[in-house]
Amino acid sequence: MADEYKTVMTESEIPTHWYNITADFKNPPAPPLRPDTKQPPGPEDLAPVFPMGLLQQEMSAERWIEIPDEVIDAYRLYRPTPLHRARRLEKALDTPAKIYYKWEGVSPPGSHKPNTAIAQVYYNKQEGVKRLATETGAGQWGSALAMACQMFGMKCTIYMVRVSYEQKPYRRSLMHVWGAEVFPSPTDRTKSGRDVLAKDPDSPGSLGIAISEAVEDAVGHDDTKYSLGSVLNHVLLHQTVVGLETKKQFEMAGDYPDIVVGCVGGGSNFAGFSFPFAGDKLTGKKPDLRIIACEPTACPTLTKGEYRYDFGDNAGFTPLLKMYTLGHSFVPPPIHAGGLRYHGDAPLMCQLVNEGVIEAVAYHQNPVFEAAVTFARAEGHVPAPETAHAVKCVIDEALKCKQSGESKVIAFNNSGHGHFDLSAYDAYFARKLEDYELPEAKIKEALAELPVI
Ligand SMILES: Cc1ncc(COP(=O)(O)O)c(C=O)c1O
Repeated sequence: MADEYKTVMTESEIPTHWYNITADFKNPPAPPLRPDTKQPPGPEDLAPVFPMGLLQQEMSAERWIEIPDEVIDAYRLYRPTPLHRARRLEKALDTPAKIYYKWEGVSPPGSHKPNTAIAQVYYNKQEGVKRLATETGAGQWGSALAMACQMFGMKCTIYMVRVSYEQKPYRRSLMHVWGAEVFPSPTDRTKSGRDVLAKDPDSPGSLGIAISEAVEDAVGHDDTKYSLGSVLNHVLLHQTVVGLETKKQFEMAGDYPDIVVGCVGGGSNFAGFSFPFAGDKLTGKKPDLRIIACEPTACPTLTKGEYRYDFGDNAGFTPLLKMYTLGHSFVPPPIHAGGLRYHGDAPLMCQLVNEGVIEAVAYHQNPVFEAAVTFARAEGHVPAPETAHAVKCVIDEALKCKQSGESKVIAFNNSGHGHFDLSAYDAYFARKLEDYELPEAKIKEALAELPVI
């Protein structure tokens, strides 16, 4: 059919390997560093936190890493996901651009997050771990890990950023349905939580604080490990199943993108979608491909942060990571895109931004929701507030095509649905959303505390 809405694959076509982009990097990836020795940590340093299977992936230089059969079997519940051609949005915008989106909202929790949750639970289970502790912002990651733990018979403890715990009560309910325990972070269960509460009893929380709490919980219990929903190399690796499927679907559709777009919190959906395409740019097959990372003006890591070593969490428990950062003590304003409120970004993605392979843009909440509503009214699917940042960029680029008359191919990762975020849409319609511009002074203040390398 010439005018298909969707390109779909069969279950047997799910990729058999994840793609490790570091094999195609021009420069070696900047390693994590131990804060005390300023040397890369060995696997033994990180063993109390992560299982060996994941640590090996974290440090691997192999281009292709096999996906275990049990993981593929769990993926089959919702993968392959469809690649949509947004024909109705193209029509609504009256643009000659061709817009495609990969629809990750079809997974049970409604986002891309289970792609790594399932893999992480699998490797932990293999090594006899009984319980996983994690943080969650918007609740998409927490619900994905809760579901994956339930599937593999493991316990799950979730530190949910307080502002999201209050804004998104039904995400919390979903985690309970899948058997997890959920606490609003900062809590008084951990020293790092208590320290934050002592300074600010009304702290809205942040991903950095919730990560500290979950790491502290894991390190303090022998049967427990920590699980992170973004940022780290192995998380990005697992998410490449998204981009690998998309490339295959583009081949089936007889097309290839000129512009690849995704939203960025810690960078996992963006990287998972874009890295297989970025590989073509790095190896010279598609030198002109544009790859655009979209973030909120309220938490502008890539557009206003500094590229330097910083802690991944608020309390300073993690190794130092080289990334665009606003400072690990930075607590972002309580925007509704809770999953984008992180002070840094994935080091692999940051390196590509620094080398000019990836571009970055930042948007305010109100134009983001305006774009999301335009999309939902044309395409039906209601995007998550995080994803809506990518939608805003896509619509802007499609309107530029309308001006220039160019028929560019624009592809984005529709990373999740917004069915549990409808109060944010209500706030937008009621004109109650604030557009936060982060003052330079506030960024400088948080950056002043960073370790000097
Ligand atoms: C739907 C959705 N998209 C994107 C993100 C951002 O995370 P990441 O940058 O790791 O993809 C989140 C995080 O919670 C999310 O829920």
